[in-house]
Amino acid sequence: MQLAVNIDHIATLRNARNEQQPDPVTAAAIAELAGASGIVCHLREDRRHIKDRDLERLREAVTTKLDLEMAMTEEMQRIAIRTKPELITLVPEKRQELTTEGGLDIAGRYDKLVEFIKPVHDTGIEVSLFIEPEKEAVRLAAEAGADLVELHTGPYSLKKTTGEAEAEIKRVRTTAAFARECGLRVVAGHGLNYYNIIPFSRIGEIEEVSIGHALIARASLVGMERAVKEMLRLIDA
Ligand code: PXP
Repeated sequence: MQLAVNIDHIATLRNARNEQQPDPVTAAAIAELAGASGIVCHLREDRRHIKDRDLERLREAVTTKLDLEMAMTEEMQRIAIRTKPELITLVPEKRQELTTEGGLDIAGRYDKLVEFIKPVHDTGIEVSLFIEPEKEAVRLAAEAGADLVELHTGPYSLKKTTGEAEAEIKRVRTTAAFARECGLRVVAGHGLNYYNIIPFSRIGEIEEVSIGHALIARASLVGMERAVKEMLRLIDA
C-alpha cells in the first residue's frame, strides 16, 4: 500500500502567523524524499489553509503525483484545468466543517457530475471521487466515468472496539473489491493514524492511503527535540 501525504495543515500552521514558514512546498519535497507516492492538497473555497499560490508552487515542485482535492464548483474546475494536477479528488465541502464530512452524494448530482468530469478528463487529469464505502456509490462512480474512488475511512477511524473496527474493515474491503470489479482503482483516507493503520494496511484491494493530520501532528512532536536543541545551540553560541 502506498502513502499519499496531505500537507494542508502545514499551511494551517503557517497561516496562524501569516508568514512564510512552515512552507507546504518544502514539506511536500521532504515527504517525497521520504517515500510518499503523492502529495495531496485541498484548495478550499475559503482558502483557510492552502492558497492559490501554494497550488501553483506545488505544481512546479511535486515530482510524484499531485492530487488536488476540491469541491465540484466552476471555479475549482477552472483552476484544475489550468494547473493540471495528475489527479483531482472531488469532495463535498461545507463552509462550517472542520474537515471533510462524509462522501459525495453522487445520486443527487449525477448529471452535473458527468458534465463536470468531461473537460477535466479532456485535459488529461484523472478523477477520483471521495465516497462512503458503499456499493451503490461505487456503481454510480463507475457509471459517471470516475477513474478512482477514495473510500471514506472516517467511520473506521471512529470505531471504539476491535470488533466494530474489524466489521468496518470488512465493509471497506468488500466495497474495494467491488470497485475493482467495476474497473475502478481504489484508494482510501480520512482519520487514519499511527494507532489504526496496521489492520487497515492489510486490505490488499486498496492501492494507496491519503493521510494528513496524523502525519503533521507527529512531525511537530518528533521534531520538537531537534528544534529546541538547534535553538539552544544558537543561543549558547
Ligand atoms: N482524504 C480526503 C478526501 C480528505 O478530505 C482528507 C482531509 O483533508 C484526507 C483524506 C486526510 O484526512 P486526515 O487529515 O484525517 O488524515
